Amino acid sequence: MPGGFGLYLHWPFCRAKCPYCDFNSHPLGPAAPDPDQWARAYVAEMNRAAALTGGRTLGSIFLGGGTPSLMPPALVGRLLDHAARLWPLADDCEITLEANPGTVDTANLKGFAASGINRLSLGLQALDDAALKALGRIHDSAQGIAAARQAAHLFPRLSLDLMIARPGQTAATLADELDRLFALIADTGAEHISLYQLTLEPGTALHAANPALPDDADQLYIQTVARCRDAGLPLYEISNFARPGAASRHNLLYWQGGDWLGLGPGAHGRLTLEDQRHALGQHRDPATWLATALEEGATTDHTILSRQEDSEERLMMGLRLAQGLPLAALPDPAIIDPQAKQSLVAEGLLADTPNHLQTTDQGRLLLDHVLPRLLR
Ligand SMILES: C[S@@+](CC[C@H](N)C(=O)[O-])C[C@H]1O[C@@H](n2cnc3c(N)ncnc32)[C@H](O)[C@@H]1O
Ligand code: SF4
Repeated sequence: MPGGFGLYLHWPFCRAKCPYCDFNSHPLGPAAPDPDQWARAYVAEMNRAAALTGGRTLGSIFLGGGTPSLMPPALVGRLLDHAARLWPLADDCEITLEANPGTVDTANLKGFAASGINRLSLGLQALDDAALKALGRIHDSAQGIAAARQAAHLFPRLSLDLMIARPGQTAATLADELDRLFALIADTGAEHISLYQLTLEPGTALHAANPALPDDADQLYIQTVARCRDAGLPLYEISNFARPGAASRHNLLYWQGGDWLGLGPGAHGRLTLEDQRHALGQHRDPATWLATALEEGATTDHTILSRQEDSEERLMMGLRLAQGLPLAALPDPAIIDPQAKQSLVAEGLLADTPNHLQTTDQGRLLLDHVLPRLLR
């Protein structure tokens, strides 16, 4: 199976809701979720999923959220042990947990490492205290740096998440912040960074506040891409940078059209079964998800994608990657308009490669313009 097979588990709770975030994440109320009940729900969903996919080797497991670093480490251990009973794990299985620096300490980080997590993805978001405050984060930059240093001792692989093109950011302040970031990377040996351009997502508090974003956001992005390359972490996907060989295997499943199970509130998965591409989605509301997972099952959407839908999705994801995708990766290569492809090559937006589709640096910036033109 090209692209491999992975498991995504979604933990939908956070200590507080960040004003920019439209993920399926909910601030924890006074009553903490019951770990035993949630464990039984994930186990029940894993058992259902294994009935479809048993025997396949897991190349990655990703605990995302929300803030999975709020999960008790014993719960994480119970879920990872159960996954390993249901599916063989690859020898080099990548097992990632997303962590918010305001929720970690030596004890829970040690617990996650002991439970089998071998890659920590730490949400620094910024290395500037005023910006962290404006973003509604529950930690300051000193806590972020301390968490990265602790994590570096405990996990073989470390990734750092930040947001760029934030209100008030300029080329000069970004340059200073990237200096601090690369100093931290040198210090911790972090092998991977995700640098997302801040987006005002409809329905969020930040969108309602409508702050001015930098006019030169594209320039800030270009500056960031160049600095990451010079620091030895070249871009491999629009927002992701890694040392050679350290790309996120789990995220590559999404971008290279692999198969993955998505379990937990609002999680989505893709499975290839008998040569057909299945798209599966689970109940979004945490209480509904919990109740259905414990009873009849939490899957609420199950569609079989047409060859055209499958091809369009693979194209959309594959063009995000620096390496692009082979035309042969599309179940229906006829979705591509060869004349449009030639025009995009002439305009410098696509590389001139006969059996392959690959955006140039400029084309990657204009992906929303490139994609619809490429389709017949
Ligand atoms: C699930 S969160 C990471 C883990 C943890 N919840 C945290 O915030 O530290 C995933 C990442 O998405 C990014 N993100 C969320 N909302 C965003 C937005 N509106 N624009 C750009 N990036 C965003 C953040 O960088 C965040 O680290
Ligand atoms: S950014 Fe992270 S911590 Fe903040 S609300 Fe979203 S998922 Fe939760």
